[in-house]
Amino acid sequence: MSIQVPTEAQVIEAAGFIKSKNPDFKASIAVVLGSGFGEIGDHMDVSPSPMIIPFTTIPNFLKCTVEGHLGNLILASLGGVPIFCMQGRFHFYEGYSMQQITFYVRVLAKLGVKGIVFTNAAGCLVPGWNLGEISLITDHINFMGSNPLIGPNLDMFPPFSTRFPDMSNCYDKEMREMIRKGAEDIGVKLKEGVYFGMAGPAYESDAEKKMMQISGAQVVGMSTVPEVIVARHSGIRCACLSVVTDMCTPEATPTHEEILEVSHKAAATVGKVLEHTLPMLIKIIN
Ligand code: HPA
Repeated sequence: MSIQVPTEAQVIEAAGFIKSKNPDFKASIAVVLGSGFGEIGDHMDVSPSPMIIPFTTIPNFLKCTVEGHLGNLILASLGGVPIFCMQGRFHFYEGYSMQQITFYVRVLAKLGVKGIVFTNAAGCLVPGWNLGEISLITDHINFMGSNPLIGPNLDMFPPFSTRFPDMSNCYDKEMREMIRKGAEDIGVKLKEGVYFGMAGPAYESDAEKKMMQISGAQVVGMSTVPEVIVARHSGIRCACLSVVTDMCTPEATPTHEEILEVSHKAAATVGKVLEHTLPMLIKIIN
């Protein structure tokens, strides 16, 4: 069986459709809103380019099947910075391929995006941390059992899109420093940690939780890793904010409902951190 990878023509078609909706809109930063954070998108300033594009209308995009993921691309402005906002994302566990769930990242790159701030809900592997705290991700461990770059190499963004792309500094140090400082300015002290990527959808067994703790990771989740890999392959600089939505320590029993409740509560703070840091990030991204 050969792996189906997106074609350059499919990426161009989707990007062209988005561009046609608002030819004057330009943004070099994107924000991806994960589980429970979609409401941040509802409060964004969508002027002077009010435009909400449902994923289902964009050629070659997928449908969001998970509760808590709204499924719109918003051409918005946050903190006075124009952004492409993904209100929802796609996951490997939904049954889509790694290549499919990361298609949107290549489309953003084609639209001129040079930096992405991802957000997600994550389980916490550190006993002393509290629910609702936000962690700036410093690195990841891809334990999802696959890689979105498997298959013929789509060399759309040279010199980045090589067969064997570099993944060092994949959570950009300069972006991280700015986000940390920006958050501090508004009184939000960010944690810091490595994100352990699992395929899901089952939560981790107790033995897996122990293994993840030994690995040196601080948080665990079922998204972001494939998207960051494709973003780096497309020359996009990345940062990620994970909200601790549940303790992922042996004996803990998270539910999706509890996780959504915590992420809903943290959404306003995440929104404020984004609003405050985007004007700083745009200076290094452009
Ligand atoms: N495990 C995996 N993914 C998650 C978790 C978790 O505990 N919480 C939020 N996403």
